Amino acid sequence: FCQTVEIHAELGSTNDRARELIATEATLPALIVADRQTAGRGRGANRWWASDGALTFSIALDAAARGLTTAQHGLLSLATAVAIVEAVRTTTGRAAGVKWPNDVLLAGRKLAGVLIESPRPGRLVIGVGVNVANRFDGAPDDVRARATSLAGSGTTRQAVLAAFLSAFDARLTQLAAGDPQLIDAARAACVLKGEIVTLRDGERETTGACRGLAEDGALLIESDAKVASYYAGVIARSGE
Ligand code: BTN
Repeated sequence: FCQTVEIHAELGSTNDRARELIATEATLPALIVADRQTAGRGRGANRWWASDGALTFSIALDAAARGLTTAQHGLLSLATAVAIVEAVRTTTGRAAGVKWPNDVLLAGRKLAGVLIESPRPGRLVIGVGVNVANRFDGAPDDVRARATSLAGSGTTRQAVLAAFLSAFDARLTQLAAGDPQLIDAARAACVLKGEIVTLRDGERETTGACRGLAEDGALLIESDAKVASYYAGVIARSGE
């Protein structure tokens, strides 16, 4: 699946290394894996906190070479989250779920996060962090309260990565082909459906009942007896 593979003992951020490879025209797709990150980034201004044992990697992709149009980039985050859910099922038998647009939860706690960036038109960086063997003893309180890992399940980072790459390759092919199996899988894994959610996008805030996902991956929220599609934002569930 990947033409360029780099395995690092330590990196600042695998997404930053992927951006460098894109800038220097390395052969894509490229996979960059780091045993440890010293400056892992999350969405927005967030940092990605992880102790040793987390699986952290990025894939640098030429979108057109994979047959992806710009309009399909929005579904890419769901495709990535669905592939993580599949990798968790394959390697541990556990049923994780997708918290739109691209967090993966296990028993209501955050197991994995995805950070997708486009450093230049047509080039994508898909950064994935999965809590595999790490524990949260020294973690900040908010991480300890909300995160979980696969520690104790007997799986390894290598096994989860291999299962992810195979699932992701198949989901990318479905995305490029407009195959409805992708949105069906995302809908089946969606943990927000039926819940009262609050979506924040900049200054805008919407609260209502989540009605699941639209065909194009948008989140459907019903408020004031109307169902509207949302394409961006951060979700808080009631009580969070
Ligand atoms: C989030 O939950 O806000 C997204 C977290 C993404 C973390 C991964 S770890 C590998 C890759 N490199 C980074 O610096 N971030 C992503």
